[in-house]
Amino acid sequence: MRVVTLTAEDDFEGWRDAARALAGARVSPSEVVWQVGDHPADLFGDEAVLESAAPRAFRVPRAFLDLAQTVILHSDPQRFALLYTLLAGVIEAPKRIDDHADPLVRRLEEMAKAVRRDIHKMRAFVRFREIADDVGTRYIAWFEPEHHIVRTNARFFVDRFANMRWSILTPELSVHWDRATLKEGPPATKADAPEGDPVEDVWKTYYASIFNPARLKTGAMLKEMPRKYWKNMPETALVKELVAGARQRETAMVQTARTAAGGNIAGAWGALRDEAMGCTRCHLYEQATQTVFGEGPIDARMMFVGEQPGDNEDLEGHPFVGPAGQMFDRAMADAGVDRASVYVTNAVKHFKFERRGKRRIHSKPDAGEITACRWWYEQERLLLKPAMTVALGATAARQMIGKTVTITATRGRVIELAEGGKGWVTIHPSFLLRLPDKARAEDEYAMFVEDLKGAAKAL
Ligand code: URA
Repeated sequence: MRVVTLTAEDDFEGWRDAARALAGARVSPSEVVWQVGDHPADLFGDEAVLESAAPRAFRVPRAFLDLAQTVILHSDPQRFALLYTLLAGVIEAPKRIDDHADPLVRRLEEMAKAVRRDIHKMRAFVRFREIADDVGTRYIAWFEPEHHIVRTNARFFVDRFANMRWSILTPELSVHWDRATLKEGPPATKADAPEGDPVEDVWKTYYASIFNPARLKTGAMLKEMPRKYWKNMPETALVKELVAGARQRETAMVQTARTAAGGNIAGAWGALRDEAMGCTRCHLYEQATQTVFGEGPIDARMMFVGEQPGDNEDLEGHPFVGPAGQMFDRAMADAGVDRASVYVTNAVKHFKFERRGKRRIHSKPDAGEITACRWWYEQERLLLKPAMTVALGATAARQMIGKTVTITATRGRVIELAEGGKGWVTIHPSFLLRLPDKARAEDEYAMFVEDLKGAAKAL
């Protein structure tokens, strides 16, 4: 039996180095015990055995390492062993990592998703309270994460609150930022954090975006936020007021981000994207691998909206990279529109599918899912303010216009959008992929290219 002692609960490098050596020496997963402790790593108990075995060289897919890096942060003590078991499997059969029906792959993907959600919850629900210490003002927050995410997440708070001195206290460790360096301290208790109201201005600017009036009205947000977070949030008593003012506040916040503080739209877009990564506004996040957010220059004058990410996009995390994306790229090139100069996003940002054996079959988002995702689309438009928004297909057209429309009735002409800017409707490129008749497919493709040219010209 080999005992591997990792130095911390989130010691990914330690796990990776040990796993690499063990797998290189063909040590079976059943022979390894993983533990965490602060005694120096007596790495494998019996290193001589490892050294005497001729190590094998191997490579693992990037997707495995990405998964492992996230899963390591999970609180399940079995995570190290499960990952090592999958590693042994992936060395033998690298494609196994893509088999989402494989029970072990699925289990680990579920764990990664839980970690991502916890990362989001910390970003959304941490509240700072102001104290005066001997140097000046310090902002202190108390948070109880479910997984070992604090160290990983600390960088996010440094980026967002670089000019403040702050501390986040948690039962596992505390992190302190003094505007220059990030330091770690010992575990804390809630009693170590100051009482009192959180500092409005600090969180308002950044966090107001989580107060979506639709969610508050239906109580969905209250459901989403576990009670354990509630008790740390005195401002939840203000829910009524937030409902009343939320929409104006959100809009004001995004608009402020456009103009204030150097008009840091890139920063506001990054914050929005980070938030979207933890989106639980509808049930689609449960099945999907990740949120696929929009991409492209944030000063783009044209925004293209698809339906939802497909199988490839869901795995890679980028919009329009699969077969429909290739069709889109080709048509854009033929229309003389540079894809790199436009912003590309989707009406719905999680992949909806049905499992058939090992295959994941695309399934159309319904009205509720499109509406739930409207929030992100609206925020993207508020930030980018595109002069022209092109809806690819009926789902995108519905998101853009705000009601169900047919492609035939709306295609190929300028539509003045209520919130400003022009809109344009055309077909979805995947329609072209489904046409069995070659001559018809060519005609439809030519019309699609004409539509794209028309939208660019109408700018
Ligand atoms: N189809 C879409 O609508 N969007 C994508 O990102 C990919 C395929």
